[in-house]
Amino acid sequence: MRSEERASALRALIDAANYHYYVLDAPTIPDAEYDRLLRELQDLEAAHPALSTPDSPTHRVGAPPLKDFASVTHQVPMLSLNNAFSDEEVAAFDRRVREGLGREGEEMEYAVEPKFDGLAITLLYQDGLFVQGATRGDGYSGEDVTANLRTVHAIPMRLADPAPPVWLEVRGEVLMLRRDFEKLNETAREKGEKTFANPRNAAAGSLRQLDSRITARRRLSFFAYGVGRVEGATLPASHSAIMDWLAARRLPVSSERRRVKGVVGLLDYFRELGRRRNDLPFDIDGAVYKVDALADQEVLGYVARAPRFAIAHKYPAQEELTTVEAIDVQVGRTGTLTPVARLAPVFVGGVTVTNATLHNEDEVRRKDVRVGDTVIVRRAGDVIPEVVGVVLERRPLRDLLTPLHEPFRMLEACPECGAPVIRLEGEAAARCSNGLACPAQRKQAILHFASRRAMDIEGLGDKLVEQLVDKGLVATPADLYDPAKVNRESLAGLERMADKSAENLIQAIEASRGRPLARFIFALGIRQVGEQTAKDLARHFGHLDAFAAADEAGLMAVPDVGPVVAAAIRAFLAEPHNLAVIEALRAARAWVDGEPAPRLAAPLAGKTFVLTGTLPNLTRDQARERIEARGGKVAGSVSKKTDYVIAGEEAGSKLAKARELGIAILDENGLIALLDESGA
Ligand code: IVH
Repeated sequence: MRSEERASALRALIDAANYHYYVLDAPTIPDAEYDRLLRELQDLEAAHPALSTPDSPTHRVGAPPLKDFASVTHQVPMLSLNNAFSDEEVAAFDRRVREGLGREGEEMEYAVEPKFDGLAITLLYQDGLFVQGATRGDGYSGEDVTANLRTVHAIPMRLADPAPPVWLEVRGEVLMLRRDFEKLNETAREKGEKTFANPRNAAAGSLRQLDSRITARRRLSFFAYGVGRVEGATLPASHSAIMDWLAARRLPVSSERRRVKGVVGLLDYFRELGRRRNDLPFDIDGAVYKVDALADQEVLGYVARAPRFAIAHKYPAQEELTTVEAIDVQVGRTGTLTPVARLAPVFVGGVTVTNATLHNEDEVRRKDVRVGDTVIVRRAGDVIPEVVGVVLERRPLRDLLTPLHEPFRMLEACPECGAPVIRLEGEAAARCSNGLACPAQRKQAILHFASRRAMDIEGLGDKLVEQLVDKGLVATPADLYDPAKVNRESLAGLERMADKSAENLIQAIEASRGRPLARFIFALGIRQVGEQTAKDLARHFGHLDAFAAADEAGLMAVPDVGPVVAAAIRAFLAEPHNLAVIEALRAARAWVDGEPAPRLAAPLAGKTFVLTGTLPNLTRDQARERIEARGGKVAGSVSKKTDYVIAGEEAGSKLAKARELGIAILDENGLIALLDESGA
């Protein structure tokens, strides 16, 4: 084959691989093969410079640095969107649209899509070839970031179109996928470099690099959401059809886009997308609604700098600014000391936040969070609020000149019991060395023992445990079952404890006797032993005594128990205090032993399930228990290792991923049939 033909064949292979990997998210060839093809093309082009073409994938590695960015005037201005923050504002938008079109009585068709939380850019294609890319700037002119955008693999260097338009301007958003953001920060952390606060900042920082070779090393993504200048082609007559038209030309468009009818359709989409917001591979800050028919868009036109035919419906912000009033240290169940920022109250992620975790000493130091600082607080979904970083520009001036507030240092004594704080080598967490003699750890241990997934003692919450421990009534979980300690009279002496609630608590404690061994082992609160490990241990040993007698090798015979877990178990059971508590709990008949699992009673052993969406009858916990009872495992995310995905109502990205990977998908009936088949 002549070099010219080979070069062109290589370009086609590499472009196809890029498209499948970056746009369809379904790789076709291994990375090593991709690298070999690219290397071969690079070598060919180096040997025969005339073979290089402007759309060659070899240009994606970046070009020598620029002095500054040239300015680009947008032929069609890049406008912004008005925002809606409530259902009423969306209803008002829809009403204005229908009135504007004189179609009050009708239901409008809308194209709906995520509001990507990245940076707006425009891509110019001349005769199908990517010739220029620019930022939005002030909407009328932006910066020429062509060299940087060439390094974004999702952006085609040539449109897949045999008869391309003379001019086509594609508008969309550059962003960084969460997984790429995590990786970037991890690498920065390892190197002791500055991390980015969120994917948006990382994308902005990467796009505005004068040295595009740096951009090339950051993985940026792109989604198209519209067009600007179009000449020499007739585009379809609706927004949604234009998106399909762009997709056919291999431009990435979001798979989350839909067509809906009326306000109900808009709000349903908003809620559905909102539920899945944290499962999406990228950050979004709302949904964008666009009147679908271009003819209608034209009639509606623009007001000031925003279209009347579109609106952005925003979710409550997941990040806000507030100030740090104090940094306290909390003692956890296993003695872990966690620095916690006390904050001026701030509404974020839909709730008012006053505390945020700072994780550990290293983390506080790295972020250099100090009292008085303005910080970014993030609360995404049900995840506990965290301090993302400090806005150094807002550090009080006096602190910049003569620091009033020193960098954080971990306490040397436990704030609860005064015992020395230790930090084991290789561990991020500092801990109180006092074990269960520390009242804070004692309280946490009892709370954990009583928690829903452990012994499930209803009504035994933190306020109550606090009083029981402080009054000296209860020092260990076993004391809960001691009628000399916990009884109607002793409970009556506690704050906010009516006769009825005392009675209920005593009943709940009684009801918790005789829990299965798995719950009991979990309830002990052994470090490293979570709910799943406790189940595995209970199934394997059957009896507590067999479990307690096992040495490390014996423990490691249990699936998924490694040396770290085995050592933690042995350390716990070597503690005379812990053995005494277990004996007292035995006397209280707190648990019942089972039978060790016969090897064959696990027909679903080795099978991994993922649950997604809402099942009609079974709760998630019930489905999980039934699968586990037959030896199956339930995982949180879909991967090639998943055997079955059980999908209910409103199953989202996990279902899509399962389809993509060709994994068996069952509904509730399918699951029940499978369980029955493997039951008996
Ligand atoms: S359409 C005429 N669609 O939101 C306006 N914009 O305030 C055309 N954005 O700067 C914008 N996702 O960066 C549109 N699906 C989407 C979007 C989106 C994010 C951003 C865009 C723009 C801002 C508008």
